[in-house]
Amino acid sequence: MAPETANASPTGSHLAPVWSRLTQLRPVRGEGAYLFDEAGTAYLDFTSGIGVANTGHAHPRVVEAIQRQAAELLFAQVNIVLSPALERLADALATVVHPELGSFFFSNSGAEAVEAAVKLARHATLRPNVVVFQGSFHGRTGQAMALTTSKTVYRHRYQPLPAGVVVAPFPYAYRYGWDDDTTVDFCLRELELILKSQTAPDETAAFIIEPVLGEGGYVPAPKRFLEGLRRLADQHGIVLVFDEVQTGFGRTGKFFAYEHHGVLPDVVILAKGLGSGLPISGIAARPELTAKWEKGTHGGTYGGGSTVPLAAARATIDALIAEDLPGNAARMGERLIAGLRELQRQYPVIGDVRGLGLMIGVEFAGEAGVAKRVQQACLAENLLLLTCGVDDQVVRWIPPLVVGEAEIDAALAVFRRALAANAAPAAVEQRGARAVAGVVSSGGRGER
Ligand SMILES: Cc1ncc(COP(=O)(O)O)c(C=O)c1O
Repeated sequence: MAPETANASPTGSHLAPVWSRLTQLRPVRGEGAYLFDEAGTAYLDFTSGIGVANTGHAHPRVVEAIQRQAAELLFAQVNIVLSPALERLADALATVVHPELGSFFFSNSGAEAVEAAVKLARHATLRPNVVVFQGSFHGRTGQAMALTTSKTVYRHRYQPLPAGVVVAPFPYAYRYGWDDDTTVDFCLRELELILKSQTAPDETAAFIIEPVLGEGGYVPAPKRFLEGLRRLADQHGIVLVFDEVQTGFGRTGKFFAYEHHGVLPDVVILAKGLGSGLPISGIAARPELTAKWEKGTHGGTYGGGSTVPLAAARATIDALIAEDLPGNAARMGERLIAGLRELQRQYPVIGDVRGLGLMIGVEFAGEAGVAKRVQQACLAENLLLLTCGVDDQVVRWIPPLVVGEAEIDAALAVFRRALAANAAPAAVEQRGARAVAGVVSSGGRGER
């Protein structure tokens, strides 16, 4: 194939073009909430590499642990030996998860951990089906893709996907245009209907939910909905799985999002923030469940055996505790959400501001594309922000948990300028901001 007709990436490199890329930035160094390019220009990273760098870029404690472990032992295959690094991580995790979830399995990516949770639930219950919630993102591997309904792009031309997956409504009140209570009542009724009409309880292995919907739009599930899930799961012997790949490790202002509402799942899926950038994931489960997971029926070459990620994860947990990063996420999240709500009062195109800790979504009403334009304007000022939601109508705020007041305020100032350049202020139009995303609201309030 001639070079010019080869499957070249937009940058002309040898990389497959399948990776989308938000920026042209080529970072050579990271520190705290910042990335730096070769020229030394600083970029405020409010993406955390999609929720990975919870301890900030290159946290010294994590770097030191990685260096020490790399010099000692790189690999200790888990089916052959048991390394001190693996035991140390399991012991550390046991101090931060609920005591009833003290049995761990480790793997490499979030999707792999999702697969482990599904396999465990099926194996332990001897039931075939799982219920997921509209808008969820659970990963890109075959099974995880079958559980993912946040956008068609993730499954387009990869069909058919594994069967045995049923999709129930997620309590996304803003999208429905209802209050929380009406939305929760509706979603629980629909779930009960699904158990009567699509997957009988004795064929339903698990409910799998993100306690804060991530890629689907940054929507916290209300407490009453999670309580309803727990009640139905208990009633029917269904395993309740929380996918905390994005919400975990301090992101929401507590170590895990399940701590907010007093609803304890049976399995928690862990990844992203666990390794501060090294690939490690896992599940924390009730030992009664993992006791039913027959020896040899699941595993992998690297999970639990690649010791550097294990050491990074152990140091991540230590840093999160020593610096009370979940507490900082709660405090900085309050400051950020207050600033964003103030901007919402000034710009009616902001339909909703919601979130927990430092996992905050700003949903734009009206014409599709405003969120993207605002995001681009922020990128032009070296503030990295992601969008999410089925129409990319939500700007998501997910900075490293080490972020300080000055950085929050600087990011808000950039966002304010981006809004000023791309959205009409409130003085022009004061009507209600609630609207179904992607639909132009009454009054024709405009974006330029
Ligand atoms: C909630 C959730 N689950 C699972 C995954 C998949 O994780 P990974 O990309 O590491 O496979 C993600 C990734 O964004 C996620 O946000």
